[in-house]
Amino acid sequence: MSNIKPEDFFKNVISHSKEYGFIFQSSEIYDGLSAVYDYGQLGTELKKNIRDYWWKAMVQLNENIVGIDASIFMHPTTWKASGHVDAFNDPLIDNKDSKKRYRADVLIEEHIAKIEDKIKKEVEKAAKRFENFDEAVFISTNARVKEYQEKIDFINTRFKTALNDNNLEEVKQIIVDLEIVDPISGSRNWTDVRQFNLMFSTSMGSVSEDANTIYLRPETAQGIFVNYLNVQKTGRMKIPFGIAQTGKAFRNEIVARQFIFRMREFEQMEMQFFVRPGTEMEWYEHWKQTRLNWHLSLGLGKEKYRFHDHLKLAHYANAAADIEYEFPFGFKELEGIHSRTDFDLKQHEQFSGKKLQYFDPELNQSYVPYVVETSVGLDRLFLSILASALKEETLENGETRTVLSIPAALAPYKAAIFPLVKKDGLPELAESIMKDLKFDFNIAYDEKDTVGKRYRRQDAYGTPYCITVDHQSLEDKTVTVRHRDTMLQDRIKIDALPAFLEERVGIKSLLKTL
Ligand code: GAP
Repeated sequence: MSNIKPEDFFKNVISHSKEYGFIFQSSEIYDGLSAVYDYGQLGTELKKNIRDYWWKAMVQLNENIVGIDASIFMHPTTWKASGHVDAFNDPLIDNKDSKKRYRADVLIEEHIAKIEDKIKKEVEKAAKRFENFDEAVFISTNARVKEYQEKIDFINTRFKTALNDNNLEEVKQIIVDLEIVDPISGSRNWTDVRQFNLMFSTSMGSVSEDANTIYLRPETAQGIFVNYLNVQKTGRMKIPFGIAQTGKAFRNEIVARQFIFRMREFEQMEMQFFVRPGTEMEWYEHWKQTRLNWHLSLGLGKEKYRFHDHLKLAHYANAAADIEYEFPFGFKELEGIHSRTDFDLKQHEQFSGKKLQYFDPELNQSYVPYVVETSVGLDRLFLSILASALKEETLENGETRTVLSIPAALAPYKAAIFPLVKKDGLPELAESIMKDLKFDFNIAYDEKDTVGKRYRRQDAYGTPYCITVDHQSLEDKTVTVRHRDTMLQDRIKIDALPAFLEERVGIKSLLKTL
């Protein structure tokens, strides 16, 4: 879909997701719940396959990493210790005319993005005018572009200083000075900026007077920190070792947009790697590269990924980077790699009054380990794979086909089986092949419509192989196997199907590339 505008392409991704049972709006019959989504029959399979691939790569392939499944509800003091009660905030501002609420930082970032767009347009104009156009030279010498760039730098510096100083009056003043208007009402009638905590709370206890306020976890990591010593002791783990976990996290995101990119209920896949103090930077670099390699193994294209090293660090980190992916709406954070020092464990020691130290037999010394964290959003990963996979192709005969080129090992169905016609014993043979294969692979069976239509349907689901049983199959026990991406066909023996599929769609085929 190279000649389609990115925003239109993104709309196609969303509508394809719905049309083929990948993702539905939550509670759609009640007009939906904002930024909450349900995974449908194909989406659930794809999501499970991505999660499995992550789990096997992190836990199964690493003898020193084990997995846990901690509860969503945790003792409320957990979130006091982690800093989430006091500091997990977004700066919010309301427009008094439209009564709409915005993230002040997003309003400012969008203003900056508009100036960046102006630079992009200047560059495009110049590139058309001059032969041998050198973009870098143009950007550093063109007066108008330099002026735009200076404006961006000035806003960025002022905004960062205001945030660092927690100076919310200054944040509002920036919005006023930039003459930012409410996109809905067009007015500049803004309230003051306030901090808004992103955690959802609920109460636990049967009688309201006794009920405790508890939170829905905003990250899975804390479930690992509070269990670190349980796992270390019972698993006899020696440093360095890791604890991995996948599970739901909840954030009351105010600017919840871009489909499943920013949700209020989402799934994280996190791993905390516990290391000897002083070795954390080595491990940080190790995990940055290892996680990037994992993403590259999906085959979505090297150019789609980049690192974004954080200059401004969270209070608990001494290094942090995002692995960004080029979504249809630009490069955005896909995964975070954070060197979290001993901050979390020390905080939990202090708030719980329990020692969380590790005795290092090599050093003959006890210490609180340092932690390097890898944290990826499963839904964002899903979106990156879906957006990269969706293609509209024009065939030689002029017809178009929609195909989802999902990495074969992650596809919801690994193969589809079709009897050519619904008679002459072909359905019976097709069903018996299905019966054999379904213990190892998720297989679709389809006998409706022409084979051409069935191919199109499976292309739209992302099924890598279509197996057709025809009259020749009855005679020589062979079938045709049609490849999703090339549309080429092979004739192969029915007996050879399990090995054929295992080699091409088994999760091992991906794991071996790591
Ligand atoms: N424990 C560290 C942590 O939670 P984070 O950068 O806030 O770090 C990690 O989140 C990852 O979780 C992000 O890189 C992103 O993929 C995913 N994520 C965060 N907020 C999200 C949201 N509202 N919707 C979907 N995914 C989200």
